[in-house]
Amino acid sequence: MEAHKQLTIGLFGFGVVGEGLYKVLQQTPSLKATIKKVCIKNPGKKRDAPEDLFTTDKNILLNDPEINVIVEVINESEPAFEIVTTALNNGKDVVSASKKMIAEHLPELLALQQSTGRSVLYEAAACASIPVIRNLEEYYDNDLLHSIKAIVNGSTNFILTKMFEDKLDYQQAVLLAQQLGFAETDPKLDVEGYDAVNKWAFLLTHAYGIVKTIDHIVFNGIQNIQGSDATVAAEKHFDIKLVAQAKKLQNGKVAAFVLPQFIKHDDHLAFVKNEYNGVVIESGFADKQFFYGKGAGSFPTASAVLSDLSALRYQYKYEYKKLYHHVPQELTTDFYIRV
Ligand code: HSE
Repeated sequence: MEAHKQLTIGLFGFGVVGEGLYKVLQQTPSLKATIKKVCIKNPGKKRDAPEDLFTTDKNILLNDPEINVIVEVINESEPAFEIVTTALNNGKDVVSASKKMIAEHLPELLALQQSTGRSVLYEAAACASIPVIRNLEEYYDNDLLHSIKAIVNGSTNFILTKMFEDKLDYQQAVLLAQQLGFAETDPKLDVEGYDAVNKWAFLLTHAYGIVKTIDHIVFNGIQNIQGSDATVAAEKHFDIKLVAQAKKLQNGKVAAFVLPQFIKHDDHLAFVKNEYNGVVIESGFADKQFFYGKGAGSFPTASAVLSDLSALRYQYKYEYKKLYHHVPQELTTDFYIRV
């Protein structure tokens, strides 16, 4: 077994996150992780890196025996899944930030990890700078994890903050989120709750061992929230936030949903503004924890890729405990939502 692995990376995507990772790795030489080749879609675009680093031929990366890690940070779910599948079958570890791809293909990815003996890590796919998957994995037993309440989409949180605190109108706020690089290429994915529920789907896996697609999770976005809602909320000392929640019920099942909620001003999540994310975990012995950090953007997301690369450097195989060593919990939609 290798104790410290030299990481030679094939990078797919050189957008906000890919370029961020390129710069972050230049500043962290002690990790001994080198990007050998970057696969991009548009060769004509001006990029701040040597030209011979780039190719449009994915096979150059996937078939290079020297490349032992594929980092995949592209936008499209199906091409991403194809890259990840080929990489694993070719004996390479994978680090991905593609939340939609992971939410849609988790069962296949888990099976592939088992059959190929390689790892797929995706800490960057949810809550960017907050190591949320690793935290959830650390709770010893599913039964001890009472509840999780989180803001996992930076764009909607940014839009709500700008609308209600800085009095921007909805369209201006969406545009600003796009300009700052937080929003998805199609911002509907953020505002209608798809991005948040994709993340919630696989976070439930690491919290409770539940492997379910988004069709099994109740969700809505912020698309119907209006100024008058904010006025009512403010009068009653509430904020409005898009909250992802999971709770262990008395019958042992887990209720999970992503919905806009009134949040009291003294709630931890009320402290989470703009593009920041926050996660509040309540558990048996540890009581309450609150994790807070940037949930989107170039360097915060690259920092999570960096933590996965570091796990691969020091561990031969990273195995998720909740999937292989715990009894999965049952998800239910049979619950009441009190707002
Ligand atoms: N659109 C996403 C968000 C980017 O706003 O949270 C980070 O996943």
